[in-house]
This record gives sequence, C-alpha cells and structure tokens, in this order.
Amino acid sequence: MAGLTSSTIGRKYAMALSAMFLLLFLIMHLSVNLISVFSPSAFNSASEFMGYNPLIQFLMQPILGFAVIFHFVMGFVLELKNRSARPVKYAMNNGSANSTWMSRNMIISGLVVLAFLGLHMYDFWWHEINFKYVEANAPDNERFWHELHAKFADAWRVIFYIIAFVLLGLHLAHGFQSSFQSVGARHPKYTPVIKALGTWYSILIPAGFIIIALYHFLTQS
Ligand code: HEM
Repeated sequence: MAGLTSSTIGRKYAMALSAMFLLLFLIMHLSVNLISVFSPSAFNSASEFMGYNPLIQFLMQPILGFAVIFHFVMGFVLELKNRSARPVKYAMNNGSANSTWMSRNMIISGLVVLAFLGLHMYDFWWHEINFKYVEANAPDNERFWHELHAKFADAWRVIFYIIAFVLLGLHLAHGFQSSFQSVGARHPKYTPVIKALGTWYSILIPAGFIIIALYHFLTQS
C-alpha cells in the first residue's frame, strides 16, 4: 500500500482503483434506493437486510468508508502535487482548447460532492448509528421508507441534493474514463467503448438519484 502511494503513478493507480470501487457502489446504492419509488415494503425489506446484515455492516461499510476518505484525500494530494510541479500554467493548457471543463475542475465538482456527503451522512448514516447503537432501539422494519420520504419534504435539501447530483454527473463524466486510463486500460478498440459507457453512466446514475429525490418531494402529502 505504501509503495502504491509513494510515487505519482502509484497514487494515480490507487486513486483509480478507489474510483472504480465507488463506481460500483453507486450502481448498488442507486438500485436499492430506486426500490423506494416502486414499493415502500420492498424498500423496507432491502434496507433491513442492508442495515442489519453483519457482513455489510462490519465489513462492507468500513471498506466503503475507507474508499470514500481515501479517494478524497488522494484527490487533494494529486491536485497539490500537480500544482506544485507546475507553478506556471502550461502555455499548452489553453483552457477549453485542449481539455474539458470537467477534467480541469475535478477538484471543484469533487468538493461539491464532498459537501453533499457531509449533509447526506448526517441525514441518513448518522441517524442510523444513533438509532441502532446510541439509543439502542429494537429493530423496526417499517421505518426506513417513511424516514427517507420525510427527508425529501424540505425543498432546500432537495435543491441542494439535485445540484450535487448534477456536479456528481460532471465529476463522473471525466472520472469514469480517466480511472480506466490510469490503470492502463488503453486500446484503440476499447477506449471509445469505455468513453461511451462513461458518458451513459454519468448521465443515468445522477438522473436516477434526481428522480428519487423529486419523486419523494412531489409525493409529500
Ligand atoms: C436520492 C438520492 C439518495 C438517497 C435517497 C440515498 C439514501 C441513502 C440512505 C437511506 C443511506 C443510509 C444507509 C444506512 O446506513 O442504512 C445512505 C447512505 C450513504 N449514501 Fe446515499 N442516497 C442517495 C444518494 C447518494 C449519492 C449520490 C452518494 C454518493 C455520491 C451517496 C453515498 C452514500 C454513502 C457513502 C452512504 C453511507 C454508506 C451506507 O450507509 O451504506 N448517496 N444513502
């Protein structure tokens, strides 16, 4: 691990691996949360399974927490190293002429997603920890859907969530294909496929989250 993070190439490789893990997590997270749009009882069952399964709680969740923190810390380290290695901007780096807004501003879109995660962890994860471990309540398998639904009654929260999902989309639009490049997956035949997959992924995943947020906001009674 130390070897992997001691050189720039190693750091980029490790960053890409954490990104790929998070890309998979987002598919899983979206799939579970989409259930809440179709069936409250199926969502309650899925949440109960995720929330009380020891393998998920005590193995997968700590791995996920580590991946999220690692990805953000390593993102900052790479950004700082890039800046100090290049105190004067490349004459070649002529704004939009030879790079996209997304690729030049990964740190900005990343910071918005980080701010979102702060609120999101407070909204859901912290609430779960309190309910289960601090207040030590008995399991209540009926509560998950109502708790989620209630969070989306607040228009400001929904607006902030949606802004964050759009920025997440921009982050993914560059990040998806960049993570494949960083692990050396470059090939004249497969790179265009990876880029196309990245474009679809970066549209469909945030769109799915936006639909969930809007659905719960618009169906409040
Ligand atoms: C409308 C969209 C979303 C909804 C309704 C939602 C819902 C939830 C819920 C209910 C939990 C609590 C799980 C638990 O601890 O029992 C959770 C946790 C979490 N969410 Fe989201 N989420 C959304 C979008 C996102 C996005 C876009 C990201 C990442 C950028 C994200 C990252 C996380 C993480 C890292 C956790 C903590 C891990 C976990 O507890 O499983 N979520 N979310």
